[in-house]
Amino acid sequence: AKKIILDTDPGIDDAMAILFAEAHPDIDLIGITTVYGNATIDNGTQNALYLKQKFRMKALVAKGTDKPLIREPVGATVVVHGEAGFGDVTAPNSLDIEAIEKPAYQFIIDSVRENPGEITLVAVGPLTNLALALEVAPDIVDLVKEVVVMGGAFGENDHRGNVTPFAEANIHDDPHAADKVFTATWPVVIIGLDVTEESFFTSQYLDELRDDAGEVGQFIWDISRYYLRFYSEKVGMNGCHVHDPSAIAYVIQPALFKTRRGPIRVVTGGPAEGMTIQKVDQCNYMNDEWSIFPAQQVGVQVDDETLLSLYRETL
Ligand code: BDR
Ligand code: CA
Repeated sequence: AKKIILDTDPGIDDAMAILFAEAHPDIDLIGITTVYGNATIDNGTQNALYLKQKFRMKALVAKGTDKPLIREPVGATVVVHGEAGFGDVTAPNSLDIEAIEKPAYQFIIDSVRENPGEITLVAVGPLTNLALALEVAPDIVDLVKEVVVMGGAFGENDHRGNVTPFAEANIHDDPHAADKVFTATWPVVIIGLDVTEESFFTSQYLDELRDDAGEVGQFIWDISRYYLRFYSEKVGMNGCHVHDPSAIAYVIQPALFKTRRGPIRVVTGGPAEGMTIQKVDQCNYMNDEWSIFPAQQVGVQVDDETLLSLYRETL
């Protein structure tokens, strides 16, 4: 099985992704590192611990950072994920388990050094913890197997942004961190809005999951009520996009996605703050300042039907 550390801001679709990773036999979920984003760092960490306890997961939980590297914090997205991150469901105040002592970035560094070439980092929240790990331990770029990121939007299929017309939430929360992660010389695959907004969990799909997937299906159904209200009121959809679970689907079955290669940068200020851009055409006659950056992969097409059945069958 592939060893993964899931860096996450739980978060309704984050929970959908965590439970997917936990359930699939080809994945060995060794750690969950938390980050601010959909909820505050305290609420998000409590949510991760609640999942670990409720579903008896072996993954260690390490608490991450509470703010972006440089920009002012955007704040929790209460309108999408509810007061504390899990919609109408509130994690109990006291649990029988705790996060480990180490901060998330240190857990990432130590795990990667102890398992050279074996760990896939899957990041489905703002990229601050990964950027901190890179700053403190640049050697990890050669030790990580792959970095899979849910974030960004590259204009494919007309998807450009969800929190601003040109920025996706995870990248917009910390554009400086995202730029560091994408320009580092480790292999990155981005599963952004270009593909995640092409797959849908309809309200009926989630009902069937509740009926067929036991305790896990019921839990996903419970937390997704708030999310579906947001989608129906603000997006005009009777269901939701499949954001964070798509990154896990990539780890399990990369062939579900078609990707394109090229260096990636992030706009860190101005009206397009948080916009992700990829160089795909040749335009080298003035200068070649892009050529120093590694070519990374961006998902541009998804087999959504197979992805939806993979998710259902796994749970
Ligand atoms: C991303 O932002 C968060 O709200 C979701 O959990 C997902 O990671 C989608 O833009
Ligand atoms: Ca997320």
